[in-house]
Amino acid sequence: MPDHIFLVGLSGSGKSTVGRLLADRLGWSFADSDTLIEKTAGRSIPAIFSTEGEAAFREMEGRALARATRSSRVVVATGGGAPTHDAGREVLAEGFTVWLAVSPAVAAERLAAQPTDEPRPLLAGDPRQRLETLLESRRDDYARADASIEVDGLTPEQVCDRILRLWEGGDSSDDVIPGVAATVTTPGASYPIVVREGALADLGDLCGRVGLSGRAFVLTDTGSGPRFVATALDSLRAAGFQATDMAIPAGEEHKTLATVQTVYDWLLRERVERSDFLVCLGGGVVTDLGGFAAATVLRGIPFVHVPTTLLGMVDAAVGGKTGVDHAIGKNLVGAFAQPRLVLTDPVLLATLPPRHLHGGLAELVKHGFILDEELVQLLEARAGDPAALATEELIARSTAIKARVVSEDERESGARTLLNYGHTIGHGIEAAAGFSGYLHGEAVAIGMHAAGRVACETGLLPAAALDRQQSLLRACGLPERAEGVDRDAVVSAMRSDKKVRDGAISWVLLERIGQAAVYRDVPDKAVEAALDAVLA
Ligand SMILES: NC(=O)c1ccc[n+]([C@@H]2O[C@H](COP(=O)([O-])OP(=O)(O)OC[C@H]3O[C@@H](n4cnc5c(N)ncnc54)[C@H](O)[C@@H]3O)[C@@H](O)[C@H]2O)c1
Ligand SMILES: [Zn+2]
Repeated sequence: MPDHIFLVGLSGSGKSTVGRLLADRLGWSFADSDTLIEKTAGRSIPAIFSTEGEAAFREMEGRALARATRSSRVVVATGGGAPTHDAGREVLAEGFTVWLAVSPAVAAERLAAQPTDEPRPLLAGDPRQRLETLLESRRDDYARADASIEVDGLTPEQVCDRILRLWEGGDSSDDVIPGVAATVTTPGASYPIVVREGALADLGDLCGRVGLSGRAFVLTDTGSGPRFVATALDSLRAAGFQATDMAIPAGEEHKTLATVQTVYDWLLRERVERSDFLVCLGGGVVTDLGGFAAATVLRGIPFVHVPTTLLGMVDAAVGGKTGVDHAIGKNLVGAFAQPRLVLTDPVLLATLPPRHLHGGLAELVKHGFILDEELVQLLEARAGDPAALATEELIARSTAIKARVVSEDERESGARTLLNYGHTIGHGIEAAAGFSGYLHGEAVAIGMHAAGRVACETGLLPAAALDRQQSLLRACGLPERAEGVDRDAVVSAMRSDKKVRDGAISWVLLERIGQAAVYRDVPDKAVEAALDAVLA
């Protein structure tokens, strides 16, 4: 057991406050590396930065960390950049490091509440903006820590409790969330995604652990509610929450503002307060619509997603896109809003109709094709029975890919675009067939087939890779071609998609399995040929 604990994270994550508490609780000493540097140099950190520059500061930081750890049993609050350079990393590797993952929004609020004499050198200008940029550049370094804790909703005491449990290695302990498949950290939020069989029974407990209090409002639909709401309510009540529920009618045709209105009516009649929270228990319709209702009622209350369809688990519940359909098109009204927790219990899929399971698999395997060849191999190794592909392990792996992508690019200005693989023609087919003709996942599978053909046609992708993709999609019970769909309608729907910019359609194309990129100058000829192939 190492006898040094290092706390890493952005300014405003609470490293010093938590570090002191932790040292007290352990009976260890506490060191703050920035303070050590200032003492040794006899100058303030802003002064060191302005006279000697960042590189010199990093060197001092390496030495200060090494000095702090000469004695044993010490908790060290490191400077935010410590894990980003070799000297810092070398020292950190000798101890137990914990990333206090704070969202830039919360960190900026905290820093504003504790003004310093001199401006912090790396936070000049708009601190939140700067913190976002710093998080982007340091995310991978922070993620190398031995453990991480999302601290946004927690008190320093709670954070301290968790570190103690983690350090003692008890991941069956009360304060460590078991089954965390991924953490989403965007500029405004940081939250865990739990993927674990049987997790629904722990809903109340997990809500408590992410710092939720107040009353729980559970939103379901007439498909998910009768199956799962009793377990959810029992679990919430057992954890001490008051809990009530409401079901909206199942079906995409009810994903409308009119239904949102009924949710507002329910919440407001019950005198919802901003400390209360909404639990969205259902498929993508419930999580999209419920997330939007939560994001807007009282200008926003916290919410938790409990996806009950495979599409919801690996896709809709992760990433913070919420909203409803409009008569003019799907998903045209909405907001970005992140949940406080996503709880995925694969056991709930047992009752999902096979067609919906297969549709969800389209998105699950899509994550492999665009970013994770190993996931594709794992799926191929089990191909046979589609139901055998929706395991805890594979759902967790696929979800983690989506979580990583949206953490890097919440608003879809870069990496998130890759998630649209198969969606260009897929959306066209969905729209042309009328939204009841093909399930979203089925249309996406056909769209992946088309995109694969485009990539082959343009010489990007070898035919053998396309064959592998198609075998796996077939093994998932997914269609390769759309029947009876009007080609002109597909083309016109593709052109009016919200992802079209300046009239040019962006294509996400595979360069090989596990690697995709965006292309904006795809020749019409290749698109025509792909459409011919998939519109039977
Ligand atoms: N926000 C996002 O990033 C995102 C991503 C992808 C899709 N979506 C949205 O998700 C929606 C589609 O989601 P979906 O496919 O989950 O559809 P859905 O929510 O309509 O659920 C499908 C059907 O299955 C029922 N159901 C749910 N769970 C069940 C279970 N465990 N057992 C039996 N029946 C169950 C539902 O009541 C419904 O009738 C679309 O509106 C789409 O726009 C959003
Ligand atoms: Zn999709």
